[in-house]
Amino acid sequence: MLIESPIWPAQLDHFKINAPDPALIVNFYCKAIGYDAYPLDSGNILLQGQQRRVVIGKGHAHSRPYHGFRLQDRRQLEEVRAFVKAQGINSIENPSPLFNDDAVAVVDPDGWVSVFGLNRLDLPSPKASNNSPPMSMAARLQHIVVATNNLDEMISFYEKTLAFSPSDYVLKDVNDKSSKQVAFWRTDEEHHSFAAFGASSNRHDHHAYETTGWMAMRDWADHFGNLNIPIWWGPGRHGAGNNLFFMIEDPLGDKIEISAEIERISRSTGPRWWDGTDGKAVNLWGAGWARD
Ligand SMILES: [Fe+2]
Repeated sequence: MLIESPIWPAQLDHFKINAPDPALIVNFYCKAIGYDAYPLDSGNILLQGQQRRVVIGKGHAHSRPYHGFRLQDRRQLEEVRAFVKAQGINSIENPSPLFNDDAVAVVDPDGWVSVFGLNRLDLPSPKASNNSPPMSMAARLQHIVVATNNLDEMISFYEKTLAFSPSDYVLKDVNDKSSKQVAFWRTDEEHHSFAAFGASSNRHDHHAYETTGWMAMRDWADHFGNLNIPIWWGPGRHGAGNNLFFMIEDPLGDKIEISAEIERISRSTGPRWWDGTDGKAVNLWGAGWARD
């Protein structure tokens, strides 16, 4: 007959790694796995991430002094204590600084120590997990844009010489198709790989990365937030291209766009025309960005 153990439910909460040079291990785990380090008493260091934590201490390589299972409440803890005693197991003093002192610790036949306990409440809470490493986040270079004081000639070059496909035009006067203010061109089915905004000078305007969706945009915004890089424009949805977007500035003030859901248009589809006076072509949700 199976014994009904009170060690249910219990979750693996943390373990301890000893290392001859703890700083080396702390540094590695923080960078590679994503932890924040917090010094504890006795030279121990708590590494905390979202739903994970480890204690690092000084000692022999490959030693793992204990692992801790988190119990639900004091009643369960006392049931576990009584159960351990009834099973004839000698418990040892709680070695884990992450559990209250009254945690129950037992040693298995190979010498591994299991600790069953309740969390200390006086330790700091983990920071929010909004710091995904950027190398792991999708951002395909997707389009680049210029400003020009020579828009008609640019249009002629890209459409007649290079034969890019026009996707959208923005007009100063919606009733006058010669009053083009912006032109978007595609070189595959994505709405634009290149675009030109009429402006007072010829200059770089921005470049854009296509990511996988709204949640990925959130991750990028969180990542920039962690680096104290503010959103410069957006979030919004471009009318032309129908893509979600926000922009930041690089240290030189050049604009960088993070985009998602950019529209796909077959090669045989003709251009559309936008009224440039209401700003919807560049942002369906709110403020535009007027180039001077
Ligand atoms: Fe863009």
